[in-house]
Amino acid sequence: MIITFATQKGGAGKTTLAIAFANYLCQVSNRKVNVFDFDFQKSFYNKWIEDDLLDFPKLYNVEVLGDADEEPFQDLEILFDLRDSEEINIFDLAGTLDEKYSDLLTYSNFIIIPFEYSDVSVKSTLVFKNLLGLLESQAERIFVRSKYDKSYKYLNQPDMDNEISKYGILVNSPVYKRNCLQTIDTRRLTYEQKYSVQKTFNEIIEQINETLQITI
Ligand SMILES: Nc1ncnc2c1ncn2[C@@H]1O[C@H](COP(=O)(O)OP(=O)(O)O)[C@@H](O)[C@H]1O
Ligand SMILES: [Mg+2]
Repeated sequence: MIITFATQKGGAGKTTLAIAFANYLCQVSNRKVNVFDFDFQKSFYNKWIEDDLLDFPKLYNVEVLGDADEEPFQDLEILFDLRDSEEINIFDLAGTLDEKYSDLLTYSNFIIIPFEYSDVSVKSTLVFKNLLGLLESQAERIFVRSKYDKSYKYLNQPDMDNEISKYGILVNSPVYKRNCLQTIDTRRLTYEQKYSVQKTFNEIIEQINETLQITI
């Protein structure tokens, strides 16, 4: 299957959540996890290389896509194979939308969309939702409240939640703003990090299992 972390906005938490989700799956699922870094900044890949210095073994491989002018999915069959595979293929995208992402966004099984409740983020999230509509994306959209601050009153939350729920699944448990998530690496999930994401991720996994009628 293909699970893509994407949204229009930089800094929304895509890469952090993608790393945490990949690490979490390695703990809770027997399926093989593969990561594809499709962001020209290569944050996920660079972190994964840097983490070679740690004394922990690799949990998964990370492949860079879209480097130079290469078009990774000229042959759509490659994408279909990844989609139909029993392995879990995680894609991390850049915050700038590009034509080269169209096929991936159209044919992913799931698109996980982290968002915040600032005005800018709300607009970007809605623009991204519209883009998925234009692409006639078949993917299930899963919206995740990211970097959520418990002590803050988000005035636009009720309206935004209502709007978002029309276009996909809004995960109940937010991913809270946490220092421990700023230092995440690609080789393990500390107890504290796991605690910060498990409710959210369990909801997402439940949704995946229900949609595809499988157990990952
Ligand atoms: N839940 C969180 N709590 C605290 N900091 C976070 C959280 N999620 C992301 N961050 C921080 O926010 C910044 C942007 O996150 P990142 O995952 O790189 O976003 P994106 O990939 O969408 O650009 C990073 O410095 C990251 O450490
Ligand atoms: Mg990123």
